[in-house]
Amino acid sequence: MKGITCLGALALFTSAASAVKVNPLPAPRSITWGHTGPIAISKPALRYDQCQDGHEGILRRAWDRTWATITDLQWVPAATEAPIPSFQPWPTDAAQAKRDTATTAVHSVQLAIVDVDADLQYGVDESYTLEVTANSGVIQINAHTVWGAIHALTTLQQLIISDGQGGLIIEQPVKIEDAPLYPYRGIMIDTGRNFISVAKILEQIDGMALSKLNVLHWHLDDTQSWPIHVKSYPQMTRDAYSSREVYTEADVRRILAHARARGVRVIPEVDMPGHSSSGWKQVDPNVVTCTDTWWSNDDWPKHTAVEPNPGQLDIIYNKTYEVVGNVYKDLSALFTDNWFHVGGDELQNNCFNFSAYITEWFAEDPSRTYNDLSQYWLDHALPIFRGTGGPHRRLMMWEDIFINSDAAHDVPRDIVMQSWNNGVDNIKNLTASGFDVVVSSSDFLYLDCGFAGFVTNDPRYDVMSNPGGDVTFNYGGNGGSWCAPYKSWQRIYDYDFTTNLTASEAQHVIGAEAPLWSEQVDDVTISSKMWPRAAALAELVWSGNRDASGHKRTTQLTQRLLNFREYLVANGVMATNLVPKYCLQHPHACDLYYNQSAITP
Ligand SMILES: *[C@@H]1O[C@H](CO)[C@@H](O)[C@H](O)[C@H]1NC(C)=O
Ligand SMILES: *[C@@H]1O[C@H](CO)[C@@H](O)[C@H](O)[C@H]1NC(C)=O
Ligand SMILES: *[C@@H]1O[C@H](CO)[C@@H](O)[C@H](O)[C@H]1NC(C)=O
Ligand SMILES: *[C@@H]1O[C@H](CO)[C@@H](O)[C@H](O)[C@H]1NC(C)=O
Ligand SMILES: *[C@@H]1O[C@H](CO)[C@@H](O)[C@H](O)[C@H]1NC(C)=O
Repeated sequence: MKGITCLGALALFTSAASAVKVNPLPAPRSITWGHTGPIAISKPALRYDQCQDGHEGILRRAWDRTWATITDLQWVPAATEAPIPSFQPWPTDAAQAKRDTATTAVHSVQLAIVDVDADLQYGVDESYTLEVTANSGVIQINAHTVWGAIHALTTLQQLIISDGQGGLIIEQPVKIEDAPLYPYRGIMIDTGRNFISVAKILEQIDGMALSKLNVLHWHLDDTQSWPIHVKSYPQMTRDAYSSREVYTEADVRRILAHARARGVRVIPEVDMPGHSSSGWKQVDPNVVTCTDTWWSNDDWPKHTAVEPNPGQLDIIYNKTYEVVGNVYKDLSALFTDNWFHVGGDELQNNCFNFSAYITEWFAEDPSRTYNDLSQYWLDHALPIFRGTGGPHRRLMMWEDIFINSDAAHDVPRDIVMQSWNNGVDNIKNLTASGFDVVVSSSDFLYLDCGFAGFVTNDPRYDVMSNPGGDVTFNYGGNGGSWCAPYKSWQRIYDYDFTTNLTASEAQHVIGAEAPLWSEQVDDVTISSKMWPRAAALAELVWSGNRDASGHKRTTQLTQRLLNFREYLVANGVMATNLVPKYCLQHPHACDLYYNQSAITP
């Protein structure tokens, strides 16, 4: 460990303005303001020391980006939090704030980092402090690692705003002590159901960086398409949607570099042995089974998939493991994270009927069960998955491999379980069983829910009454939108996912991730479905959903999130709007309850 100090000097500016106390998102763990009032920051030629920047200049580029954003945007939040409830007058726009004469200005940003070598991997220290002492003219940032310093800069860029008259100001004094509650804070994109362009993936990463999310879980493929180039089997991308809808190795490297520069890990997922058809079948049709069968549960005993089109890896066919091994090895060489997600969800028994190898395996010993088959998969695939990817390789799987009726018997406890069913019940089960858990409960965190069904020739829509009245269809049952309704940002933020866990069980919850499955998502819709709701999750896992006295602070998040949505859009992240602009400009005017403690406990 070596300590360095990087000095960034900013030119003096001789006037300041009255500013507002800008509340960044996610809310820091601790932020204290004084009463001195704002201090000016000019637009200087930045002098940034050529300090030892441990990661190929990441720190320097992060600062350049931060300063460019500050100066380009000249940001002014629409309104900050009002004293609650204070209905008249509404707080003054920062843009219209009165200018005062300031005697000092910010002249330097000092970054001190303890360990410049710490790599961006699971559990790296992301803490930082940021302090502007009254009239010192210095912004002091201390962080243990480069990655903490990057978070400090995304906080700083939200604190420095325009004075509305061509100048920049920061409210001071201010002292922030910050660190995430959870080391795993993610979103999931799915490029198997629909292709997402590199540019749009970078846009998601930009939103993540601003909200301090640190894991992009990339569900690469699914039965519908195989969009990623694999060196050993270039023929797999014959099952991409087109030759343009393919990620080359250069594309992947570009995404990884963009993410790393912003403190975001990228965890690849190849979903196996379920959800497998496209790509694999180009290597050897026998590697997959049931690919050309009828999928639907209109005849339940016959159905082979949860959605079209069907396909699963053939667990008994020997060559499956050779192909899986080569695909996994090539992708492990390309992706840089220690972690790899190997799927494991939603196996459909009937699909296996279409494999001669599997039916013969069952016939050999009538006592064999689908649980035994799942176990066979683990016994043969795990040594491959563990044997590649370096000494720190850690595997993630969907919870189904452990908690389903066809689960394997013996799932090693070092595999991280991603929980998506039954809310806190499954989280309790998994943590009590000794697994580390990433929370993705579909009832709270699935961002794709509530847009009706995508399957066609569906007579259930042809009724002359509101199908919403049928609670088993549109709202939470099978069919249409299986996980309806839409998960609002309030639903997400209010989710207390450690409810009823013991302290030691809660220790096993390492974070949460909001998946956005993309049956109905492509470049046009990804950002509006992802944002700003993912930012509500970001704050939930960064500093929690409670204030210092332990009360839910959802109503206080409101204005932060509405402002942050504007900020995302200004930064090129096409987040959807949540309210009439009136509500943005008039904090709490659109609350349902006058009583600001209506959301208990
Ligand atoms: C698959 O095999 C099981 C067990 O033999 C049987 O009950 C089921 O109907 C078969 N499914 C199909 C689609 O043939
Ligand atoms: C699969 O491999 C095993 C072990 O190498 C061998 O015993 C078995 O005969 C092979 N099965 C087939 C169908 O080739
Ligand atoms: C977890 O769920 C599995 C499958 O339903 C069950 O067998 C097991 O007993 C449960 N474990 C705990 C600790 O609740
Ligand atoms: C927590 O446990 C209590 C007591 O068993 C139960 O009534 C409650 O429903 C549980 N909460 C959740 C969210 O499951
Ligand atoms: C506000 O709501 C909370 C929670 O329901 C309640 O405890 C409190 O008494 C209410 N305050 C007022 C002023 O009504």
